[in-house]
Amino acid sequence: MYTELENLHKSCFPNKPWSASDFADLKKSGCDIIASQNGFIVWRVVADEAEIITIGVHPDARKNGIACAMLTLVESDVKKRGGKKIFLEVAENNIPARRLYETNGYSQIGIRPKYYDGIDAIMMEKVL
Ligand SMILES: CC(C)(COP(=O)(O)OP(=O)(O)OC[C@H]1O[C@@H](n2cnc3c(N)ncnc32)[C@H](O)[C@@H]1OP(=O)(O)O)[C@@H](O)C(=O)NCCC(=O)NCCS
Repeated sequence: MYTELENLHKSCFPNKPWSASDFADLKKSGCDIIASQNGFIVWRVVADEAEIITIGVHPDARKNGIACAMLTLVESDVKKRGGKKIFLEVAENNIPARRLYETNGYSQIGIRPKYYDGIDAIMMEKVL
C-alpha cells in the first residue's frame, strides 16, 4: 500500500529513506498522511497541538507550490480539529525547507544542537 510513498520518500531523502512499513507504522500510531504522485506530508495532532513529521516533493516537481499547498491543507485540518499550534523541526542547513516554513508563517522557537548527524535542528512553531 505504501510502496509508492517509499519510492517518493527515497527521491526526496536519498540518505535517509523510509520504508513502506515505516509509513504504515506512522499511520497506525495516529499520524495522518497526504500523498500524491509528487509530494507527501505526514503530521500528527495531539490535543490542541500538531507536529509536522515530514514533508517532501519530488525533485522534478519542486518550486511549483506543492509543498505550500500541502501545508495549507494540513493547517486547515489542524484548525478544524481544534489545534492551536503547529510545531516542526528542520536542519539548520536545509535552506529550501527553512524558507518554505518562513514563507508560511513559522517562526524559530529554539535549537537542538547537533540533532541531525552533527547539524543543529531549528525548532519552529506557527500559532494558528
Ligand atoms: C522543502 C521542499 C518540501 C519544498 O517543496 P516545493 O514544492 O518545492 O516548495 P514550494 O514550491 O511550495 O515553495 C514554497 C516556498 O518555499 C521556498 N523554497 C522552496 N524551494 C526553495 C529553494 N530551493 N531555495 C529557496 N527557497 C525555496 C520559497 O520561499 C518558496 O516560495 P517561492 O516559490 O514563492 O519563492 C522540497 O524542496 C523538498 O522536498 N526537499 C527535500 C525534502 C526536505 O528537505 N523536506 C523538509 C524536511 S524538514
